Amino acid sequence: MEEFGKDVLEGLTAKPKYLSSKYIYDAEGDKIFQRIMKMPEYYLTNCEFEILETYKDELMHHFSGNGDSFELVELGAGDGLKTKILLQHFLKKNVRFSYVPIDISHNILTKLEADILDRWPQMNVEVLHGEYFSALESLQEDKENKVILLLGSNIGNFPKKEALNFLNDIRNRMNDEDQLLIGFDLKKDPDVILQAYSDPHGHSEAFSKNVLARINRELGGQFDLNRFRHFQHYHPVEGNCESFLISSEKQEVRIEALGVAIHFDKSEPIHVEISQKYDFTGIKALLSAAGLKIKQSFQDERGYFSDVLCEINV
Ligand code: AVI
Repeated sequence: MEEFGKDVLEGLTAKPKYLSSKYIYDAEGDKIFQRIMKMPEYYLTNCEFEILETYKDELMHHFSGNGDSFELVELGAGDGLKTKILLQHFLKKNVRFSYVPIDISHNILTKLEADILDRWPQMNVEVLHGEYFSALESLQEDKENKVILLLGSNIGNFPKKEALNFLNDIRNRMNDEDQLLIGFDLKKDPDVILQAYSDPHGHSEAFSKNVLARINRELGGQFDLNRFRHFQHYHPVEGNCESFLISSEKQEVRIEALGVAIHFDKSEPIHVEISQKYDFTGIKALLSAAGLKIKQSFQDERGYFSDVLCEINV
C-alpha cells in the first residue's frame, strides 16, 4: 500500500483521529492555499512581503558576504511569490547564486520553474520535488555556501517536538558558513489569529476538507464533505492554532482502496493541522536546542511576524 493509504489508515483508526496536513497539498489544495494567501485576514503573507521588501538589501549582504556565490535552498517554496522579491533584487545587484526550490507539490514546482525561467531566463534554478527530509538528503554537501529559506511560517506546521527534530536535521546539513532564514508567526491578539484561520469566505474550511476530498479522489473514499465542519482552536498561552474536522453526525465512511469503513461518532473530531505561533523566548529556546544561534531578526511594523536569520552555534 502506498504511503498516503497507510497514513490515512493509521490516522483514521487512531484515537483520537488525525490526518497529516501535508496531504492537504495536491493541485486542488495548492489552489485553495493561493486563495487563503490573498485573503486580507491571512496577515502572514503581507507581513512577510513587508519584511522581505524592507530588508532585501540587508539580507543580500548577509547571504553573499564577501561576494562568494551561494545556493539559495528554499524548503516548501510553494509559488515562491515572496522569494521572488529577493530573487529579483539579487539579480539586479548581480549577486552570484543559484536557486533550489523544494516542495512536496509537484504541480506547484513545475509552475514555479516555468514562471521563473519565463521572467529571468538567466537564472540558475534547479527544482527538487519531495518532502523536506528526503529532499535535504539529496542536497549535495560542501558544494558552496548554502542559505536555507524556510519562510511563511512553514515551521509552524510541525508540532514543537517535530519542529526541533526538523531543525536538528537541517543543522546537521549546515556548514559553519551556511545560514538559515526562518519565518515565525508571532503570538498576538487571539482574534487576529482566529480570523486568519477561520475565514468568512470558506477558504480555510475548503482547505482542511481537501484532505477528505483527496481521500475520495485517490483512495475511493466516500466522504460526504457536508457531513463535516471545520473547527479552529487557538491557545493564547501555548500558541498552538489547530484545525479539526468535526463529524456532524454518527456515520460510517467506506474507503475502497483500504478495504475499510471508518466509524465516526456524532461530533467526533479529526485533527488536520497545527499552525504553531511563537514568541521570542520560544524562538530562542527552539533554535538554541537545535544548536543554532540568531544573527539577526527582522519584523514587520506591527510586530506580527518575524524572519529570523540564524547560523550554527559553534
Ligand atoms: C503553509 N502554512 C504555513 C499555512 C499556515 O498558516 O499554517 C497553512 C494554512 N493553514 C490554514 N491556513 C493556512
